[in-house]
Amino acid sequence: MILVTGGAGFIGANFILEWLRQNDEPAVNLDKLTYAGNLANLDSVSQDPRHVFVQGDIGDRQLVDRLLARYQPRAVINFAAESHVDRSIHGPGEFVQTNVVGTFNLLESVRGYWNKLEGDEKSSFRFLHVSTDEVYGSLGRDDPAFTETTPYAPNSPY
Ligand SMILES: NC(=O)c1ccc[n+]([C@@H]2O[C@H](COP(=O)([O-])OP(=O)(O)OC[C@H]3O[C@@H](n4cnc5c(N)ncnc54)[C@H](O)[C@@H]3O)[C@@H](O)[C@H]2O)c1
Repeated sequence: MILVTGGAGFIGANFILEWLRQNDEPAVNLDKLTYAGNLANLDSVSQDPRHVFVQGDIGDRQLVDRLLARYQPRAVINFAAESHVDRSIHGPGEFVQTNVVGTFNLLESVRGYWNKLEGDEKSSFRFLHVSTDEVYGSLGRDDPAFTETTPYAPNSPY
């Protein structure tokens, strides 16, 4: 079992469809269904028992703790985010709430869960956080590509 967040969004939904196409391991999909989430993206798996949809917020620790305890995932893949630069300039609050506070709460819940795992389950557990190259700022025409060690230089709340 894996726990996917933001799985009703653009990338998350395509990830879930591809995941279920490639293997039989079930996925719990935690998504708040903001304006950006659309369950129609997942119509083809709406009756598939390998896909468990839960509407909720990644920042809701009680809910996330419950899901982790119930489904015992071997990995968490975090796609949930406010993801549009222009919206972050006009209304940064939701961005801070989900992308910063929500991600922190999710990490804290998962850390609590991971701490109780043992042996192989602990060493093989993965938290995959999907971010954006926007965190590195802008590239000049002849600059080398960003890497994961490039210093952050964000130029919008997103
Ligand atoms: N789309 C791109 O081209 C692109 C490129 C680079 C990086 N990314 C990153 O990939 C990630 C996913 O992007 P996307 O394009 O699929 O975004 P999206 O806006 O299409 O989907 C985000 C999903 O997260 C859900 N969500 C938002 N806040 C939530 C919360 N608090 N709790 C639970 N669910 C919540 C929304 O309902 C939505 O379904 C983001 O981190 C984004 O920055 C996207």
